[in-house]
Amino acid sequence: MFSVAIDGPAGAGKSTIAKTAAKKLGFIYVDTGALYRAVGLACLRKGISTDDKDEITVLIGEISVELVYIDGEQRVLLDGEDVSEKIRTEDVSMAASVVSKIPEVRMFLLELQRGFSRTNDIIMDGRDIGTVVLPGAQVKIFLTASPESRADRRTLQLREKGESVDREAILNDIIKRDYQDTHRKTAPLRAAEDAHIIDTTQLTLEESVEAVMKCIREGMSGK
Ligand code: DC
Repeated sequence: MFSVAIDGPAGAGKSTIAKTAAKKLGFIYVDTGALYRAVGLACLRKGISTDDKDEITVLIGEISVELVYIDGEQRVLLDGEDVSEKIRTEDVSMAASVVSKIPEVRMFLLELQRGFSRTNDIIMDGRDIGTVVLPGAQVKIFLTASPESRADRRTLQLREKGESVDREAILNDIIKRDYQDTHRKTAPLRAAEDAHIIDTTQLTLEESVEAVMKCIREGMSGK
């Protein structure tokens, strides 16, 4: 089986780029952020504070989180309910970032993530895929971009969906999430030593996909 790990901060284009590359290669795309988002949503629904480690540790013993593929598209199930759209709000983004600090939450989701790599050729995106989840991945990529360009892209995306958004608020959220994701004790966001680092600030989507595909092709040809 062939595994590609793509890590990087929120909004660097990981999911769009990884999804496109996976389609070209016929690989399964695994978005691991969706799993943390499902746990974040479960906390919000149960009214548990995302800082309450003890309550959350109990909660993860009670909930089920699954990833399933319908027509090649990943869906995330929380207690059997398809919550793939409901996890895409700013509230859930922030909750996911906070709960992902808890080592028990990370352990809870670890085996689920590794399981996919044993039976499928995959491109998996997240924050700790190359460092913790799949340290043996054949190709590791760290995708990054300036916070400002990530905020601009996110603002455009939401406006295209018809949502009214405040670009400054989005930029502040991105900066806050970057801080949380890079400063947590367990599995912080960082590039693996053997990762290719790609900065997409000045790249179009097509150019970013091409840069990622180049790394993967080299990895597949054993270079
Ligand atoms: O990729 P995303 O924005 O959907 O991820 C949501 C949050 O989940 C992110 O702020 C940090 C956390 N996360 C993580 O800690 N490890 C991963 N492999 C993926 C996501």
